[in-house]
Amino acid sequence: MSIVDTAKEAAQGLVQGAMSKLVPLAPDRWIPGGVPDPLIARKHGTIGSPVSRLDGALKVKGAARFAAEVRMADMAYAALRYATIARGRIASIDTAAAEAAPGVALVMTHLNAPRMNPPAPFGTSPTAVGQNDLPILQDDRIHWNGQPIALVLAETQEQADHAASLIDIGYDVEPSTTSLAKAVAAGTQPGVFMGQPLLNEVGDAEAELAAAAHRVDQRYRTPRHNHNPIEPHGATLAWVDGDLVIHDMSQMVTATAATIAGVFDLKPEQVRITSPYVGGGFGCKGLWDHQIIAAAGARMIDRPVRINLSREGVYRIVGGRTLTEQRVAIGAESDGRFTAILHTGIAAMTPHNNMPEPFILGTRAGYAADSFKLSVETVTMNMLANTFMRAPGEAVGTFGLESAIDELAVEMGIDPVELRMRNEPEQDPLSGLPFSSRHIGEAYRAGAEAFGWSERAATPGTRREGEWLVGMGCATGTYPYYRMPGAAARITLTRAGTAIVEVAAHEMGMGTSTTTAMVAAERLGLPMDKVEVRYGDSIIPGAIMAGGSQQTAAIGAAVIAAHNALVGELLKLAGNDSPLAGLSADEVGSEDGALVKLADPAARESFVSILSRAQRDEIIAAEEASPPLELMHWSMHSHSAIFCEVRVNAVTGETRVSRILGSFDCGRILNPKTARSQFRGGIIMGLGMALMEETQVDDRNGRIMNPSLAEYHLPVHLDVPEIDVIWTDIADPHTPMGAHGIGEIGITGVAAAVANAIYNATGKRVRDLPITLDKLL
Ligand code: MOS
Repeated sequence: MSIVDTAKEAAQGLVQGAMSKLVPLAPDRWIPGGVPDPLIARKHGTIGSPVSRLDGALKVKGAARFAAEVRMADMAYAALRYATIARGRIASIDTAAAEAAPGVALVMTHLNAPRMNPPAPFGTSPTAVGQNDLPILQDDRIHWNGQPIALVLAETQEQADHAASLIDIGYDVEPSTTSLAKAVAAGTQPGVFMGQPLLNEVGDAEAELAAAAHRVDQRYRTPRHNHNPIEPHGATLAWVDGDLVIHDMSQMVTATAATIAGVFDLKPEQVRITSPYVGGGFGCKGLWDHQIIAAAGARMIDRPVRINLSREGVYRIVGGRTLTEQRVAIGAESDGRFTAILHTGIAAMTPHNNMPEPFILGTRAGYAADSFKLSVETVTMNMLANTFMRAPGEAVGTFGLESAIDELAVEMGIDPVELRMRNEPEQDPLSGLPFSSRHIGEAYRAGAEAFGWSERAATPGTRREGEWLVGMGCATGTYPYYRMPGAAARITLTRAGTAIVEVAAHEMGMGTSTTTAMVAAERLGLPMDKVEVRYGDSIIPGAIMAGGSQQTAAIGAAVIAAHNALVGELLKLAGNDSPLAGLSADEVGSEDGALVKLADPAARESFVSILSRAQRDEIIAAEEASPPLELMHWSMHSHSAIFCEVRVNAVTGETRVSRILGSFDCGRILNPKTARSQFRGGIIMGLGMALMEETQVDDRNGRIMNPSLAEYHLPVHLDVPEIDVIWTDIADPHTPMGAHGIGEIGITGVAAAVANAIYNATGKRVRDLPITLDKLL
């Protein structure tokens, strides 16, 4: 079999693997509507029922092939060498020993790499997803400690790893900024996030704060975090007749293909990226140097290449969440009403990427106040690029804000839930826009009751069970409802009565492929086992990023638009002989594999009948669904109330989270089963942020010191208690399907809820994460 066949076959196999078996669903699940299609509201479909993940069995059986498991004939294995200085030049690089090592096919450095354009960084255009604008292996310059500086391709992974270790590198070290203190001393710049200034001022917040009857004014610190999806980054790729096929693990197949095409001066359609399975994303499964380096090497030796980063490799070249230092100050009247909210501070960035941690985003929609001062300023460090990490901004910003609110509640002797409710805004506190759907009060009421909040001791440090101090805390989370442009869907309806739904979207383990099948089945009026969903492939029209918690909404809107177009085409095809003759698309709905007259459901014709009569094998409709302008008329967010109980050991300082409950208000929940897992996963990530996660960097040289799961601590099963998840399930009338995003709200507020519970248990307020035991002794 030729390389060409193998590459194409692998692409096909992967995509088909993803859509193979769909689970039929009993049609007896009737749930409340919220969708403006009267037929769907009348005859309820699958949405809202707990459907198991369609890809679950494939994954459990090992039948799902991930990107670094794809085999190609004559494939070479890749290893990278990473720079060990923060800034300077490569003075010498001796590759002779590596080249002579067994099995080596290529050693590529800046001296022999092909000419490549720098990737366009994220946010500079709709299709750019590079995380840096740095040239890759094009010159001798070092920009961060860990930058890849050499590639080895060999017959086996072991041979490649060994040969990479034989490369001898000499550096000219140049002055660098690797400590935060030095970066701050060099000055700050205004923060900009996705083109928007990170600055809001309403009234004179400093003056209001100074005049307030009660106030808190504190500093909060959050450390650097690295991404640790269970699947380390990797790709298997081949050049096929001058085109590039990459089996990647991606949250953004279409944009990645376009950006890589730009690097190699190709047309976008010459790069195909497939990504049917992703072993965790959280914001880091985008385009980094490794895909580009591997593609360049593959072209040089004219063989397919598999690159699979070691865990250390992920720490060296895949960016994470940057550190922040935040000031949060709140002024309040004696009745608890806020007169001033100040949330300011700094986030560290690199000179060559554009992702500050926008920690004020959650504060913009949190509470009513007479005055606001919100700003993020940035400082520059020579380090690994920052990138998106689950709820970038909100995750760390709510640690500051929601800790400060707890501190104010203590100061005023008010229950922290009550203080929050007294400051619940009637409309968006900054824009003045009405909320499309906000029921935080209901989330708190239900959460407090389910959790047993009334058991909380008002005085900290007063509940003790043996060595263990017990406390409870809570916090609010908000995360905006985003919709990115570019979404599209294509539906193919066949004479066999089945439908194929294609979206250039992604399944990172959160259940997207399953929920997409549910949405499509309901729209089409077909059972789920008659619907195939194809996704995770850049050749599918449209571009839907798995980011910003907006993928499901973007898919849903595109599927609805394509379905509407399909109905129009079917009516044309049905013609005058049909019981539907003369009807327009908005007069019919889809039900039981048929088009049905809404005003008279007895008047109907099945899809199969329409296609058969017209002697057509299939009918295809594709439609784009850009975010509607009406979205700008509303302030739209997902919301949460997090309740936590901790036990802190009075002797050792060890914190155990004994109970945690997330009460969510995120519109309508489409699939309770996958949604519950999303919320839980976010909460677990929040527990790690609260108690464990910290990238430790050597201030002298910018080297990450704990690049492994042994030394960078994440929650394991024993760290995670039973997590309760409940939700309001109140549909938002202004979104397709009534849903809000749920990918990032889960982590939001968790660190503050834990910190507040620790305070309630011990009387110790820890304002810098993670809350390790040394800080409690
Ligand atoms: Mo996310 S941080 O938008 O994957």
